[in-house]
Amino acid sequence: MNTVNDRNQDSKNPSPHGNACCSGTQCGCNSSAAAVPATSVEADQLRQQVRAGYSKIAESGSWSAAAPAAASCCGGSAAKTALPAGGGCCGPATFTPEQLAAAIGYSAGELASTPAESNMGLSCGNPTAIASLRAGEVVLDLGAGGGFDCFVAGPKVGATGKVIGVDMTPDMVSKARRNMAAYTRQTGLTNVEFRLGEIESLPVADGSVDVVISNCVLNLSPDKPRVWKEIARVLAPGGRVAVSD
Ligand SMILES: C[S@@+](CC[C@H](N)C(=O)[O-])C[C@H]1O[C@@H](n2cnc3c(N)ncnc32)[C@H](O)[C@@H]1O
Repeated sequence: MNTVNDRNQDSKNPSPHGNACCSGTQCGCNSSAAAVPATSVEADQLRQQVRAGYSKIAESGSWSAAAPAAASCCGGSAAKTALPAGGGCCGPATFTPEQLAAAIGYSAGELASTPAESNMGLSCGNPTAIASLRAGEVVLDLGAGGGFDCFVAGPKVGATGKVIGVDMTPDMVSKARRNMAAYTRQTGLTNVEFRLGEIESLPVADGSVDVVISNCVLNLSPDKPRVWKEIARVLAPGGRVAVSD
């Protein structure tokens, strides 16, 4: 494992038991999800809360559209409920998902090759920008949401490579799978697949992945040490990790 970029842990979420700027259940802004649960039952209850929030987001199509029901991310619910649509999850409240993506370094070409509905403004960074992806590599995206970073990674690894997105929210996985048709139309590629699962128990074979990426997800896990053990298990020797969080 070579590369880690963990932004929230240092700047936005300095405490492992809380979050300095956020509230609610999205984008790692759930102080209870950040706390280490005492039992696996509590861990499951926390995942259930997070899953319920992201189901609403998958259904509405953007973070801010779901914000009144699903609580806020950064800056409080009052600012978010005032937004008509769009709005970045961890960026300025006035940004649309497209503006947020451009501001954190996604190129115009990347945005053009990704299905519009895969970008729901849920990113807090740009993991593929630091992953140095090469043709033929196998990439695993933890908490893939609507598939945005998978669809950015797909053209970089090309037809000989493969991207697997894992997410525990069924509505997100369904949405990502629906986005596949637009991705194939826009790129001519069929190298992305989505699997339902928890990042604490990855539905991925040992040593089968070259690069793990993740965007704004690890902070939501109730058992982060287990996530890192799973990352180590699925990575092939010399594998890399590029995390934005
Ligand atoms: C902030 S969104 C980020 C989505 C995507 N990475 C993006 O940037 O557009 C967090 C995603 O992680 C998923 N998630 C949260 N905790 C998870 C866990 N323990 N296992 C699997 N997926 C999880 C949620 O369902 C949600 O789709």
